[in-house]
Amino acid sequence: MDTKILHVDAGAGYDIVIKPGVLDDAGAHIRKALPRAKRLFLVTDSNVSPLYGPRLAASLEKLSFEVHTRVIPAGETSKSAAELVKLWEWMTAHGITRTDAVVALGGGVVGDLAGFAASTVLRGVDTVQIPTTLLSQVDSSVGGKTAIDLPAGKNLAGTFCQPRLVLMDPDTLATLPESEFMSGMAEVVKYGCIWDADFFAFLAQRPTREALTADIGHILYTCCDIKRQVVNRDEHDTGLRMILNFGHTLGHAYELAGRYETWTHGQAVAAGMVTAAELGQTLGITEPGAAGKIRAILTPLGLPTHIPCAFGYMEKAVGIDKKSAGDSVTLILLEKIGAVRPLKLPKAEVLDTLRRMTEA
Ligand code: NAD
Ligand code: GLY
Repeated sequence: MDTKILHVDAGAGYDIVIKPGVLDDAGAHIRKALPRAKRLFLVTDSNVSPLYGPRLAASLEKLSFEVHTRVIPAGETSKSAAELVKLWEWMTAHGITRTDAVVALGGGVVGDLAGFAASTVLRGVDTVQIPTTLLSQVDSSVGGKTAIDLPAGKNLAGTFCQPRLVLMDPDTLATLPESEFMSGMAEVVKYGCIWDADFFAFLAQRPTREALTADIGHILYTCCDIKRQVVNRDEHDTGLRMILNFGHTLGHAYELAGRYETWTHGQAVAAGMVTAAELGQTLGITEPGAAGKIRAILTPLGLPTHIPCAFGYMEKAVGIDKKSAGDSVTLILLEKIGAVRPLKLPKAEVLDTLRRMTEA
């Protein structure tokens, strides 16, 4: 696979470099992007650290960076205020200055937490994202959303702060557990649904991890290209960027129903996309057959296309969704595969239709 580079205009502008083995050249790429940085604060997690930490640190030290490493416990519970404070204290104890940078090596948990810490310590230092899960490569490392979870809910405190560089090594996906790989695939399929019917058809012809991995460079490039176009036009999530949440409102209901334990985010989004397409078909907005096409692509990947869910969770998800205001909710519905339409609808109508669909 050749090196692929995409440029995001948002923030100070930054490159996304997609290259097998880029972990070993990371020092050189960071030196070029951040010529003044002396110290790098490498944040990773307890699963990723033994796999890739020493290799990355060696590549940074080769370029004479002073590297400090902190390993957080793997898992969503680390996206907490307590871990954030520990990161701030660790960085300041090691004399971080405004020209230094934070390097996030790991999945979306590391990226969101380290990105938040970097965007707030000393009122903001630079971040380099080095995503190692499929989800973080196609989604969370690009676009500058950072966050921690609060007891009241996920991602309730955070910043918009674009990274200065994203380095993506597709080879790191080889060690990803199957369920994490497929969780990321739900987001990959989402890009086909909302933006690119040809990409959707391309994915439909690759129903196994092996076949997808053979074309992973094209997959990463296509997803990041779509995300960068969306972010360039709506960095702060006030309009177009909402389309990235296709399948997420209902996915949220399924995550709630499973108490965030039964279903991974990707599994919930997979079933959420099917229900959203069925809802769109019932409302006469989505082309008939679209839900079936999404089902057909998700099933061989082992992703659920239906999750049983008490109606109350749907009410809650529609009610508390970030796109919900007063009596209405903006739903992201498909017109057809590859074309999406945000639609503001009365909550009561959405819930009535969902109730009838659930009872049918
Ligand atoms: P994660 O970071 O928890 O990683 C999943 C698991 O894979 C973890 O156990 C991790 O240790 C392990 N892992 C990571 N890379 C590995 C590798 N190469 N080999 C083996 N194991 C590896 O989860 P995720 O799915 O990457 O990210 C989910 C998080 O991302 C959520 O907190 C979500 O809110 C956030 N998110 C943020 C954005 C955004 O725009 N900022 C977008 C989507 C999701
Ligand atoms: N993952 C949704 C977004 O970045 O807006």
